Amino acid sequence: MRAVTILGAMALTAAAVACAPRADPVREGRALYQEYCAGCHGTQGRGDGPAAEGLDPAPADLTAIAARNGGTFPAVEVMATIDGYGLRGHADVMPVFDPLLQGPRVMFETDEGVMTPTPRRLVALAAYLETLQG
Ligand code: HEC
Repeated sequence: MRAVTILGAMALTAAAVACAPRADPVREGRALYQEYCAGCHGTQGRGDGPAAEGLDPAPADLTAIAARNGGTFPAVEVMATIDGYGLRGHADVMPVFDPLLQGPRVMFETDEGVMTPTPRRLVALAAYLETLQG
């Protein structure tokens, strides 16, 4: 009986963890992007939003992140840039987005075999940006 209860609890946990990614992160990320990022980075991510004019440095072309990184999309670095903890020196230009760091967390593999609880909205944004890579 006990074993059954434990198995049941494990199944529930697994279901809860599995549910979060199935909530379509790309769609959530696209909506967040249009709300928080498109003003500077442009609706297509090319760095040509209406608020980009006069910014120095100019907003990055987010469709070329993988290309700039030898063909690999660096999801963890991208999330670090967005959440303001990245040491990339542009925190003054790009605001830190508190609303993106709030809300539920999901487990994200930040290093090989290392799962880190990460704000779901950040993961969603990174998933969306990955779809923009040319
Ligand atoms: C106020 C304008 C502004 C807004 C809004 C903004 N950014 Fe940026 N972003 C910049 C600028 C400027 C840079 C380039 C800084 C540099 O080159 O040092 C940048 C760089 C980046 C980079 C680094 C790209 C690379 O390869 O180096 C990423 C990723 C990024 N932004 C994502 C986002 C996301 C996602 C959002 C929305 C949550 C966002 N940005 C909102 C101005 C903005």
